[in-house]
Amino acid sequence: MPARPAYSRLQIALHWLVAILIAAAWLTHEGMGRALETRIETGASGFEGNTPHVWLGIAVFVAVLIRIVVRRVQGAPGPLPGATPLMEKAATWGHRLLYLLMVLTPALGALAWNAHSEAVGELHETVGSALMLVALGHALVALWHQYVKKDGSLTRITRPQG
Ligand code: HEM
Ligand code: HEM
Repeated sequence: MPARPAYSRLQIALHWLVAILIAAAWLTHEGMGRALETRIETGASGFEGNTPHVWLGIAVFVAVLIRIVVRRVQGAPGPLPGATPLMEKAATWGHRLLYLLMVLTPALGALAWNAHSEAVGELHETVGSALMLVALGHALVALWHQYVKKDGSLTRITRPQG
């Protein structure tokens, strides 16, 4: 598949939609620990508790799966101008790690909720925090590329091509 100059309109829309949904799921996590404890103690099986967090997380999961399919069909732009082979590798693996964490975080949340498991809940918290940290690092690197190296990194994820 030939390298494209930028991500497609759909890929750009999905990138920012997912970023907003992840931030929203993160901001609504308050009270989930207590909701899970109550669920375990009472053996409840319904959707009681902090539903915005759960729905936002499910939306992340679905949007990321769509994103992965679109990525496989449409491909991605080649390396940034002036990128060394090491930088290219770091970008590829950094993006793969983000995809993995984006799928794992909501999957573990749903597993903790449905399997009534505190231990999986803790794993969900840890993996979710890792996702936020890696995403923050990713955003900082993107800004550094755009404004210090001036290689048009941000333009590729804001201005569509095809
Ligand atoms: C990308 C999506 C998600 C992110 C970033 C995220 C993030 C978090 C964070 C940071 C906590 C810690 C809250 C605390 O105890 O103070 C948490 C707790 C929790 N979340 Fe999520 N979450 C996501 C998706 C989901 C989904 C889809 C579900 C369920 C279907 C879910 C269920 C839970 C549960 C049950 C807890 C309590 C865990 C415990 O305290 O042991 N989360 N989430
Ligand atoms: C939760 C937040 C975010 C997540 C999970 C995320 C994830 C990703 C992933 C997985 C890619 C690779 C796309 C692909 O090749 O398929 C990507 C690309 C990109 N992201 Fe993000 N992103 C987030 C937020 C941000 C923010 C806040 C910025 C800017 C400040 C940003 C800037 C970029 C840029 C510039 C690219 C394109 C890199 C290139 O030229 O290849 N992202 N993002």
